Formats: sequence, structure tokens, C-alpha cells
Amino acid sequence: PTTARTGPAAMVDDRPGEGFFRVNRTALVDEEVFAEERKAIFDKCWLYVGHTSEVPGPGDFRARTVAGRPVVLWRGSDGRVRVFLNACRHRGAQLCRVPEGTARGMSCFYHAWTYSNDGRLTALPDADGYGPGFDRDRFSLNRPPLVDEYRGFVFCCFDPEATGLPEYLGGAREYLDLVADQSDEMEVVEGLHEYSMEANWKLFVENSLDGYHLIPLHRTYFDYLKSTEDSYLDPRKPTDARDLGNGHAVITVEGPWARPVARWTPSMGEENREYIEGRRAELERRYGAERARRISMTDRNLLIFPNLIINDIMGIAVRTITPVSAGRTVVSQWTLATKGEPESVRARRLDSYVTFQGPGGLATPDDMEACESCQEGFATAAESPWSDISRGIHKEAGGGPFTAADEIQQRAFWRHWRDLLAARGPEHG
Ligand code: FES
Ligand code: FE
Repeated sequence: PTTARTGPAAMVDDRPGEGFFRVNRTALVDEEVFAEERKAIFDKCWLYVGHTSEVPGPGDFRARTVAGRPVVLWRGSDGRVRVFLNACRHRGAQLCRVPEGTARGMSCFYHAWTYSNDGRLTALPDADGYGPGFDRDRFSLNRPPLVDEYRGFVFCCFDPEATGLPEYLGGAREYLDLVADQSDEMEVVEGLHEYSMEANWKLFVENSLDGYHLIPLHRTYFDYLKSTEDSYLDPRKPTDARDLGNGHAVITVEGPWARPVARWTPSMGEENREYIEGRRAELERRYGAERARRISMTDRNLLIFPNLIINDIMGIAVRTITPVSAGRTVVSQWTLATKGEPESVRARRLDSYVTFQGPGGLATPDDMEACESCQEGFATAAESPWSDISRGIHKEAGGGPFTAADEIQQRAFWRHWRDLLAARGPEHG
């Protein structure tokens, strides 16, 4: 098998001393590698389920798929947010068959076992047909082994032995805080963008953290900006890229774009100026000038390994990148906003978000086309087997300031990817 021939260590050719880092394209096309990833990564890591603001009221629920498993994010009548496996305890039919809603309980469509929103089996037809050994308390909905929340972001993990969420997030918490601290309460805006591409999931992870492609690939967007009153915006401000540990990584851009809590821009209009300036003054009062500047005047593209992206840029995109096969990926994307902001600010925020990051916006189709183009190019993988990810590695080896156009963030991802696959042992490649 191909994986046995190359192995994860050989697929990531990491030689900082010699100034290069490359990834064998086998890692992006091979279905055996994909099968290994499911076990080594998606069955082991903490994975994003949803945001607590998506289920604000008692009984509110969202059906999701995480690591191939159907789950339900469901707020109980007691106010607690739980994650359940969406499989009936009787024969396994999916209990929840709609994407979202509000319910005190759900009844399975197959034989009508009924569960309350805290997961207990509360009713079943012909219950007296069971023997005295049948104890309905033992048939509550199952849950992922680990579930936890950080600043409203709910994660689960299918490895009961895994380290806790705070330790797992590690250095990424600081950057999640910069997103969450933008207001007292952040909320996911109603509605979901879902799109798919004929490309490996890791290509889109790389792309979501890639500052190098911004100007060449998204020229249409910057040409469009030049035609508007935002034309003074210079996208190439001092930048930073960091390996946050555990495969998490971030790039930081000093680019205010049109984020309502960030720099006031002419096109925000007078009606929004007072609100924006008030928000910034409030952040300064609360956090001091330096932290307020980081929250409101810098943008960030954050990866929570393996597949959660928070791109806090033109708008705040929260994106999960889900592999379907080695060559096919589904992306689910939401946008996060300041709760209670004025309608005109919200309108401006959403316009800015969809214009750049929406699936029909001026950037995302470019990104998808680039990833699909790479995947098509990988038909030449036998003759042209390596992708280069060395940019800035000489600084990594010798010390020096990174910029977001460097590729330390992608190397952070790939090194952790390699380590998790290699941890499964040599018999798995
Ligand atoms: Fe759900 Fe039978 S499978 S009640
Ligand atoms: Fe892009």
C-alpha cells in the first residue's frame, strides 16, 4: 500500500537546517491516508460542534455531523447545552431528522421511542411488552465521550482518553479570546453557508491560513475595493504568523477592512460612526489601549486543529472543513457578530462578510478554484510529487520576524498532522 511505502514521516519532509519543508502529494490524494486520518485525527482530536448562541432558548437544537457521526446540539429545558449522538437507543435510527428547531422532546419515527431534551427516554409504545429487566433509565441518548465549551464554542471529542479542552486549545485560547472579547456577547448570525469542493480538506485548511495568495488570487476583490471609497485600505500591513502548538496556528494582519468594531471607515457612514467609536472606547476602558487595539484593530485567521477556522477579517467567518473522501470536502460556514448591534452596523457587517467570504463572494470561489486546481494538478503526483511549504523557514531556523506571507502556520499544521499519524505506529505507515 502507498501509505506503507511512504509513511507519514516520509510524507512530510521537514529539514529546517537545510532550509526546506515539503509535503508529498500522496498525503492529499491517497484514500488510505484519508482512512488513517479518520482514526488518527478525527477520532482523537477535539472537534467543533456549534456555538451556544445557536441554541439560545430552552429546547433549541441543531443537528450536525461531526467526524462522520450525526449529533444534536440541544439545550435542555434546564438551560444546559448538551451534545447527543443522533442515534436512537432502540435500533439506531436518527432521532432528529430536521436541521434545527425547538422541542421539549423528540420521538423516533421508527418505533416512537421518545426522549426529553435532557436525553432521557421518557416514553415508548407498548412498554409493558418488555420484561422486568428493562430499565428505561439505561436507555438515555448516548453522548460523545467528551464535550466541553470555551467562550461559547462547543467541542466534542470521541477519544475518552484525550486531554481536556482547555489544554487542547492551549495557545489558541488567547486568539479565541480576541474574538470573543469584541463584545459582552457574540452570536452566530442565523443562516448557514454550506459548499463543497473537489479537493482534499487539507488544501482548504492551508488556504484559510494563507496570506501569500491574498493579492494575486483575490485581485478582483482588491480591484473592487479600489472602485469604492474603501480604496485607501492597504492590505499589506505589518503581519505575524504563529505556531500555537497542538497543530493550531494563526496569522495576524493589521488590516481594519470594514469590521464594525474595528477602525471607522468612510463607507461605514455617519450613522455608524458613533456606535463604532463608542465600542472602541468601551474596549479601551475595559482592556486597556494595547489589548483594545489587538481586539479591534488587528485581524486574524485562526486554525483550531484539525478543521475549525475562524477568519476574523472582513467579517468573522466560523468554518468547519469536513473531509468526505481524499478528493472531496464539505465546508460549513457561519458568521459571528456582536449581539445587539444596530441594524445599520449589522447590515454593513454582513455585506462586508458575504462580499469577501461568502460562497458567492469575491474571494471564496477563487479559493475553491485554486484548491480544485491543485487537486487536478496532483494527477501528476507520480512525476511531480512534492508541494513546497518552505517560505520563511530560514527565519524559523535562524530566528527572525515572521510575516503572514510566511508559511510557519501551514508547517505547524503539517507537523502535527504527521505526528498524529505517526503515533498510530509503523504498522499504519
Ligand atoms: Fe428508534 Fe426503534 S429505532 S424507536
Ligand atoms: Fe483566499
